[in-house]
Amino acid sequence: MTETTFPKDFLWGGAIAANQVEGGWNLGGKGLSVADVATYKPHVDNKDYAAHMSVTVEAVKEAMADPTDTIYPKRRGIDFYHRYPEDLALFAEMGFKVLRLSIAWTRLFPTGEETTPNQEGIAFYRNVFQEMQRLGIKPIVTLSHYEMPLALSLKYNGWVERKVIDDFVRFATVCFEEFGEYVEYWLTFNEIDSIHRHPFTTAGIIPEQSEAGKEEQEVYQALHHQFVASSLVTKIAHEKNPNNKVGCMLTKLMTYPLTCDPLDVELTLKKNLENDFYADVQVKGAYPRMIEKDLEKRGIKIEMAPEDRQILKDHTVDFLSFSYYMSMAESGDPNAERTPGNTVLGVKNPKLPSTEWGWQIDPKGLKISLLSLYDRYQVPLMIVENGMGAVDVLEDGQVHDPYRVDYFKAHFKQMKEAIDEGVDLIGYTSWAPIDLVSAGTSQVTKRYGFIYVDADDEGNGSYDRLKKDSFDWYKEVIATNGASLAE
Ligand code: BG6
Repeated sequence: MTETTFPKDFLWGGAIAANQVEGGWNLGGKGLSVADVATYKPHVDNKDYAAHMSVTVEAVKEAMADPTDTIYPKRRGIDFYHRYPEDLALFAEMGFKVLRLSIAWTRLFPTGEETTPNQEGIAFYRNVFQEMQRLGIKPIVTLSHYEMPLALSLKYNGWVERKVIDDFVRFATVCFEEFGEYVEYWLTFNEIDSIHRHPFTTAGIIPEQSEAGKEEQEVYQALHHQFVASSLVTKIAHEKNPNNKVGCMLTKLMTYPLTCDPLDVELTLKKNLENDFYADVQVKGAYPRMIEKDLEKRGIKIEMAPEDRQILKDHTVDFLSFSYYMSMAESGDPNAERTPGNTVLGVKNPKLPSTEWGWQIDPKGLKISLLSLYDRYQVPLMIVENGMGAVDVLEDGQVHDPYRVDYFKAHFKQMKEAIDEGVDLIGYTSWAPIDLVSAGTSQVTKRYGFIYVDADDEGNGSYDRLKKDSFDWYKEVIATNGASLAE
């Protein structure tokens, strides 16, 4: 018989990232991160992500010389740095079992190369974790979420240099030691695959610092260093506390063939295999043979230390987490219409509606993702990001957001179906439970939350928090462990 509720102990909650909520960019001894130089670029049609996310040394230096936050919204965030008690209380009111959040590397190691951590940074996170403990919310901590020290980017071209592995391991070790009494769930790199789509945000790579003609090669080299670092910190997490559970984090980019033309099917299969590659290395512990063959054909040679393959093999993750926002199609027809998605441009699926930012809404794609990921990896799965960016209207102190409820309801029903069909899905954290600064566009007005933040893209507003209609709806879903979805 099929249960009407989600599994007992299902981890319901929400997800945020330090660089998109904290603000306090120059407080408490924090150093500059790659997020602090991201400028606000107002647009709705984010079709050209590569150009939008690209960075030059000159632009970085200009940003470093600017002491204001005017055009750098991630420096402001939503002021979680000061308002976290109120935000955590609202999450607790919704009944959150877990909150996924990240630790800003630069709060602990301002340039990434210090040998001892900044105590003020440690104190800030200890306070956050203590408050969460008091409220009964368990943390899921992402160690790296788009915020590496800018100094490492300028000095070593980010993760391109192997030396950065040691800096990251030192940072992660401090996190396990200092916060281990509060944290059991850890994620290593947010959307590790995104290094190809925005190498600066994900890995501190500024293309002009790469050897001419070797830009792509260096991206793969940096990715390899992140894989090794991920395995090494997984090892340390397990040594520090056998109860620690470490997950990898993948952008699940589900792709369908636009037609049943075998060419479309072949291209689609390859796209999906490319997306699986990142989880293959972290869950199965080895580079897939077909990916290695492809790299060889493209003349990309990753330099590996003799011990690397063994490290990857020996220290695989305990669970697989992923973000899911949309799906896309693939076609052999070069003229097929394209649409933006989560930092990708895909072929538009005529069967699906889109958000105001062009991301195609596909709840069934979430179920297909769950079935295929579980079938391939056979480890517990966690959805750690899912949601829709929308333009919300504040009227008489209220935000009516039935579109958000519809979006979540449809996705939750597909999750339930996947669970009923045997998938081991252990948790779900929405992106994001509170409005925050968009990773891609640095807008606050691309709103994701159940909680409205009274701020605009220029930083005007009271920053007061207000419950949207969806707040009570999600609260009820959690309180009934999903049974309310049937009503
Ligand atoms: C994910 C990122 O790719 O998508 C988040 O991990 C991000 O950091 C989310 O915020 C939504 O994307 P955006 O560009 O709308 O903020």
